[in-house]
Formats: sequence, C-alpha cells, structure tokens
Amino acid sequence: MPSDASLMQKALDAAWRYQVLTFPNPAVGAVVSNDAGEILGMGAHHKAGTPHAEVLALKEAYLTLTHDTRIEALSDSMALHLFLKENHQDLFSHLSLHVTLEPCHHFGKTPPCSSLIEALGIKRVVIGSYDESLSAKGGGAYLQSRGVDVSFGCLKEACDTLLTPFTCKEKKEPFIFYKLALSANNVATGGTITSLESRTMVHRLRDCCDLMVIGGNTVRVDRPTLDARLCEGKAPDILIYSHHKIFDKSISLFHVPNRHVFVDATLEKINAYSMVMIEGGAGMLEAMESKVEWYLIFRSPYTKEGEEIKLPKGLQEVFSQTIGEDTMSWYRRVW
Ligand SMILES: NC(=O)c1ccc[n+]([C@@H]2O[C@H](COP(=O)([O-])OP(=O)(O)OC[C@H]3O[C@@H](n4cnc5c(N)ncnc54)[C@H](OP(=O)(O)O)[C@@H]3O)[C@@H](O)[C@H]2O)c1
Repeated sequence: MPSDASLMQKALDAAWRYQVLTFPNPAVGAVVSNDAGEILGMGAHHKAGTPHAEVLALKEAYLTLTHDTRIEALSDSMALHLFLKENHQDLFSHLSLHVTLEPCHHFGKTPPCSSLIEALGIKRVVIGSYDESLSAKGGGAYLQSRGVDVSFGCLKEACDTLLTPFTCKEKKEPFIFYKLALSANNVATGGTITSLESRTMVHRLRDCCDLMVIGGNTVRVDRPTLDARLCEGKAPDILIYSHHKIFDKSISLFHVPNRHVFVDATLEKINAYSMVMIEGGAGMLEAMESKVEWYLIFRSPYTKEGEEIKLPKGLQEVFSQTIGEDTMSWYRRVW
C-alpha cells in the first residue's frame, strides 16, 4: 500500500506541470485514493479562475467510481461543486484526499473546497503546506472541527517549495526565474532551438508574467517580439538591461499593444512587478548568476553548432517533464 508521502509526491508532480501558469493563484495538486491506496482521481489547478486541484481530483474519482459521464461536460467550478454535492451517493466516505496546499475556505472566483470536502464526507485529508493567505486560510481546522481526520505537514518542505511564487506574492516580492532554451550539447544561440510545443509553453508562461527582462545584446541580435501570440495571451512589459540607452525602435518588441518597454542599466524596475521571467544568452546568465535562484530550462534532443553555455553552479533539479520532443526542467540554485 502506498505511503502518504508517495501519494503526496503524485500530487506534487501533477502540480509542478502548471507552475507559474496558475499565477496569481498557487500551483496545487491533489490525489483521491481508496483504503487500498489505489488512486481514483488526480488533479492540478490549471489557471486562476478555473477549478481547484481538489475539485478536479474529485471529479475524476467520481467518474472512476460511477462511470457517470455527465460530469465530463462540466468544467466550471460552481457547476462541479453543485453536481458533486447532489450526486455523490456517499461514495466518498471511505476515501482519502492528499493535497499539496490546505483546501481553501472562502468564496473567491470559485466556491470553498472545504465545504465540498465536508459535503462529500471524505474520511481523511492529508495536507502538505498550510495556507497562510488571510483570505483563504483555515480550511484544515474547519474540516477537523467537522469530524474529518486531517493531518498537516506531509512532504511539507517540497510542498512549500512548490508554493514559492505564491509565497513571494503574499510577501509582495517578485518571483524571478531565468528561462533558457538549450540544445542537447548546451548551445543557446543560433535561432530556434526547441519544438513548437516548448515555444507555446513559453508563450503561456509569458502570458502569466507581468515583466520580462532581456539583455541589450539579444535585442540587437534577435530583434525579437517577445509576445504571447502562440497562445493568444497578453504580452508582459519589457525591461531591456543594457549599458546603452538607444535601441532601434523599429524592432517589433517596441510595437506590441498595451506594453511598457523600459531600457535601464539597473534592475530596480523588477521590484515593481510580481512575476518576472528573464531571457538571455551567456552574458545575461553570467550577469544574473548571483541574483537568480530559479531556472527553467527547455532542452532539445538535438545538438547544434555553437559555443557551449556555462550553466551556473549549484543547480538542483526540482521537477522535469517531457514537452513535445524536449524536456522542461525546473532548477533551484543552492548557494
Ligand atoms: N537560448 C535562449 O534561451 C536564449 C534567450 C535569449 C537570447 N539568446 C541568444 O543569446 C545571444 C545573446 O546573448 P548575450 O549573452 O550576448 O546577450 P544578452 O542575453 O543580451 O546579455 C548580455 C547583455 O546584457 C547587458 N548587461 C549585462 N550585464 C549588464 C550590466 N551589469 N549592466 C547593464 N547591462 C548589462 C548588456 O547589454 P548591452 O550590451 O546593451 O549593454 C550585455 O550585452 C543571442 O544569440 C540570442 O539569440 C538565447
């Protein structure tokens, strides 16, 4: 029978696939299992305003248990809450829910997960991180007061790490990550490196960022647009980090609607933003080495001609997934 830790690890893996994409909400994963530890449903929060991880895991578990395909058509959070509350037939009363973050306890863009869990009569809830946000906290204690067997702190360190962008937001600090595309032999230059799937993912990430930082040389060499057209998303503001003040204003990044472009020899602007992606080549990587803790590397399976880039020391892989023919890996730098 799988341990709480291994079920929580599955919830963590589900959540990491949507890291940053859920911002300003936290990335959260959830797993529903039976007494034998068999997984009946798994879910991750995908995007702010859409159903929470718990709701999607419960939806999948309901389908596994009943084969009632009516639920498949429901994607709205309120509709899923109502459907599950009306149709659960006490099927959940012997089940456990492992969730990386304490279930929310307030009406936000979606109804409270705590009320749904209570209504379904879930026997046991295993929680990774406490929700410290003033608006949503208290779901675990509430469920405990309603007789649910609740335990806190399962894989807490890993669950807290998953929560870093959200924790930064709560502290009014920017979450900063360096995104890099690399060939199999660590070349970062010479045009397109990764697959369309990876590049679409980068545009989805840009859609969730409010600022991108790019080095002056990349602007001159690539003449990029740096928008989110592959997912029809919104383009973040741009900070061009440079010793120079003058750039060719015919470059398309200057002509994206509803965007501010700053040119600055300091990085102070970053502090006015909450989700910041840095892109650049070897020079930028070196300039940022002492300032950036999080790195997101898209790695192609193909080699490329060019100079091998020197990655910062102390990168520890936190999560990796396949995307198209590439891999996409999150690293945390340990000093
Ligand atoms: N694979 C990828 O993910 C990726 C992403 C982006 C770019 N690239 C490639 O990377 C290559 C360019 O790389 P690169 O490293 O030469 O250029 P870069 O990414 O633009 O970074 C270096 C530039 O940053 C600015 N800079 C660095 N330290 C600074 C400081 N202390 N104060 C102010 N500005 C500072 C300078 O701009 P100024 O020279 O204007 O002062 C410098 O030229 C291009 O071939 C591009 O295609 C690859």
